[in-house]
Amino acid sequence: MTEQGRFLVVEGLEGAGKSTAVATVRHWLEAKQLPVVCTREPGGTPLAEQIRTLVKQVHDEQLTAEAELLLMYAARVQLLRNVIEPALATGHWVLADRHDLSSRAYQGGGRQLDRKLIDGIRQAVLGNCKPDLTLYLDIDPAIGLARAQARGELDRIEQEQLVFFQRTRQVYLQIAASEPGIVVIDASKPLMEVQQSIVAALDAFWEQGHATLA
Ligand code: TMP
Repeated sequence: MTEQGRFLVVEGLEGAGKSTAVATVRHWLEAKQLPVVCTREPGGTPLAEQIRTLVKQVHDEQLTAEAELLLMYAARVQLLRNVIEPALATGHWVLADRHDLSSRAYQGGGRQLDRKLIDGIRQAVLGNCKPDLTLYLDIDPAIGLARAQARGELDRIEQEQLVFFQRTRQVYLQIAASEPGIVVIDASKPLMEVQQSIVAALDAFWEQGHATLA
C-alpha cells in the first residue's frame, strides 16, 4: 500500500517572501527525491483560478466579506477534492502556497468576520484534512506592503489599509501560538537566515516523522 503523502503549507502576508520560501521548500523536497505537487490558493484548478481572478479584481460593486469568504472556500474545496486529496492518497507531498489559515487570518482577522461562521464552513469543507506542517512567514505589514507596492500594481486585497493587515497578522500569530504544527519564521531577517530557518523547520519535521515511524 502507498504511504500517504504529507501536506506542507507556506503562509504569510503580502511581501513576506512566500514565493522564495516555496522555492526553498521545493528544493528541499526534490533533494530528498520526494514526489511533489505544488498548489496555490485561491487557485490551483481551472475553476479555482477563475475564482482567484474574481477575488483579486477591483469591481464596481463591493464584494461583501461574506461573499469573499465563501469564494475562498469554494476555490479551496475544488482544490482539495480534485488535487490535494488525490495527491496525498497516492503518496505525493503537497506543497501549498496558502491554505485554510489564510481565511482564518484575512477573513477572520482582516475582515473581522465571526469566528463561528468561519469554523462552521471550515468543518463542512475540510473535515479532518489538515496540514502536517505550516510555515508562517511573519513580517511587519508596513514592510510587507512596501515590498508588494514595489512589485507593481496592487490588487483588490492589497489595496486594503495597513490596519487590515495588522489585524490579519495578529490572528496569524495568535493561531500559531495556540495550535500545533505551525512554525513562525521571522521574515524580516536577511534572506539567507530566513532560508536557514525554513530548512531547520523542515529537518525537524522530517526527524519527527521518522522517529514516529521507527
Ligand atoms: P497571493 O497569491 O499573492 O498570496 O494572493 C492571494 C490573496 O488572497 C492575498 O491577498 C490573500 C488573500 N486570501 C484571503 O484573503 N483568504 C484566503 O483564504 C486566501 C487563500 C487568500
